[in-house]
Amino acid sequence: MKILVIAAHPDLNNSRANKALLQGLNKNNDAIHIRKLYELYPDWNVDTEKEQALLLQYDRIVLQFPFYWYSCPPLLKKWFDDVMKPGWAYGPGGNRLVGKEFLIATTTGGSDKSYRSGGDNQFTISELLRPMERTVTKCKGTYLPAFVCYNANALTYEGLEREANRYAEHIRTLMPVLAH
Ligand SMILES: Cc1cc2nc3c(=O)[nH]c(=O)nc-3n(C[C@H](O)[C@H](O)[C@H](O)COP(=O)(O)O)c2cc1C
Repeated sequence: MKILVIAAHPDLNNSRANKALLQGLNKNNDAIHIRKLYELYPDWNVDTEKEQALLLQYDRIVLQFPFYWYSCPPLLKKWFDDVMKPGWAYGPGGNRLVGKEFLIATTTGGSDKSYRSGGDNQFTISELLRPMERTVTKCKGTYLPAFVCYNANALTYEGLEREANRYAEHIRTLMPVLAH
């Protein structure tokens, strides 16, 4: 399975969690191709044709980012706007992503217990990721269960390493196993 990871962290140099997750992938699997969106597009001028062509080459697209205000950092939102075009991703003639697997991987400051009804953040991550889920299903892609690294800022070095191993395994797990 060919996996593309699109990592969207505005300041990877000062990241702990997302940096550790990416380092774990480099260590664990060289078949995974990583693209760091903020480094590729410092001017935010997303190359639509290039991004679209890349998506076609992979079976599974992982969108990795720190959870910011219950959503993704803004360059990833722009990536969606610039890449998921009518006539290509959806609408009449827009069938290029049919069946392609998409998986969200995010790190949160909040704990797992805070992301539930009655918890501090009130909603589950699955609920809060609905707009991205619907973007994928609108394009007839397959939306897979997300990977979430909770409590990211409080994790020790060992904790981050554990999460990185869990991440590397999660994104390589085949759909029937991930979804059941
Ligand atoms: C602008 C901003 C918004 C944030 N919003 C949230 C949020 O909505 N929910 C949450 O749990 N954490 C939030 N956080 C915490 C980040 O998710 C956390 O610092 C990040 O996942 C840690 O990853 P890193 O070490 O790779 O930066 C926010 C942080 C920033 C800077």
